[in-house]
Amino acid sequence: MFPVEFKPGIYWVGSMDWSMRNFHGYSTERGSSYNAYLIMDEKITLIDTVKAPFCMEMLGRIRNIVDPAKIDYIVSNHVEPDHSGGIPFMMQQCPNAKIVTSDPNGLKGLTGRYGERDYIAVKAGDTLSLGQRTLTFVPTPMLHWPDSMVTYCPEEELLFSNDAFGQHLASVGRFEDDNDLSEVMHQAKKYYANILMLFGPQAQKAITALSELKISMIATGHGVSWRSHIPEIIQAYKDWSSFKKTDKAVVVFDTMWHTTEIMAKNVADAFQKAGISPRLFDLRCDHISDVMTELLDAKYIAVGSPTINNQMMPTVAGFFCYMKGLAPKGLKGFAFGSYGWGGQSIPQVEEALKDCKVEIALDQQKIQNTVNPPFLKKLQQNVVNMVSSQK
Ligand code: FEO
Repeated sequence: MFPVEFKPGIYWVGSMDWSMRNFHGYSTERGSSYNAYLIMDEKITLIDTVKAPFCMEMLGRIRNIVDPAKIDYIVSNHVEPDHSGGIPFMMQQCPNAKIVTSDPNGLKGLTGRYGERDYIAVKAGDTLSLGQRTLTFVPTPMLHWPDSMVTYCPEEELLFSNDAFGQHLASVGRFEDDNDLSEVMHQAKKYYANILMLFGPQAQKAITALSELKISMIATGHGVSWRSHIPEIIQAYKDWSSFKKTDKAVVVFDTMWHTTEIMAKNVADAFQKAGISPRLFDLRCDHISDVMTELLDAKYIAVGSPTINNQMMPTVAGFFCYMKGLAPKGLKGFAFGSYGWGGQSIPQVEEALKDCKVEIALDQQKIQNTVNPPFLKKLQQNVVNMVSSQK
């Protein structure tokens, strides 16, 4: 297990989770990494740890540089166990280290999880001298936990950003320019949409605070770090946190006997006809976290469900539960679907859209039994008219 030198004397000593495919309901098809960093200075400092089962990998990397017993500080930017889970293990390796955490929420969270330790609680602007280098701390509360903070080293122009700017992406190339940039940006967007979307105002506040810092490298808590495209990822965060829209529609559906599926395809065609790029998601095979990634910058959403046992399909209900929690903003849309007799699912979908703060821009589009050409023509025209009326 080798460390990766990020700057002279500063090393990535994290761990790679190639196998993770689900993070709290978010599909992670590229795995992830838990990034920890070792700063070799007069005071040897570890920035964050890793998820508990991965501690031996981190330890192996550290041992390639220094005897872990010599570590003086562990900076814990975030209490969530994918970053702090290694603290008890590391405290056995370096029992004299002090743990630096945010005041008061990091202190409360770490004490609650790991008991009384030798903590140093820091507030905005507090500094810690390591010898040749200094660390300063910037709280980023609710980005995405109350305790979250980032750590900045001015001498190195290096930001340890923890969850912010990260991705669930396992890769031996530790920087964005070692990887396919479009894949890194996609995974960064997916991470933002599924972890941080709810906290747009807090993200904007954090970006404002960070804009005062000179940053030549962002060392993230997950995935790859940034050194060649820092303005691009910061601009992306500005766009995502303000829900900047593109001409895009997201069409989501489940189906029983393919009628709602045919409607979904016609809805997508109609959006395309109206100059709005459609993305079609079939909940029988697509993951709700991929839907959220596309919803982040979409203008429209259309959701379809047939009626089953007087309800919408459970997949559609689960999607709405997830969407409501992440609270995308500025969407317009409508409900559609087919039914055999009662047809309760379509008004239920419309209510669920309203509950997710979607502006209803078109009446419910529904058909009993199965579709026919005149119905599909009218459906397409209704969608085209809706888009025209919104311009
Ligand atoms: Fe990567 Fe919020 O923990």
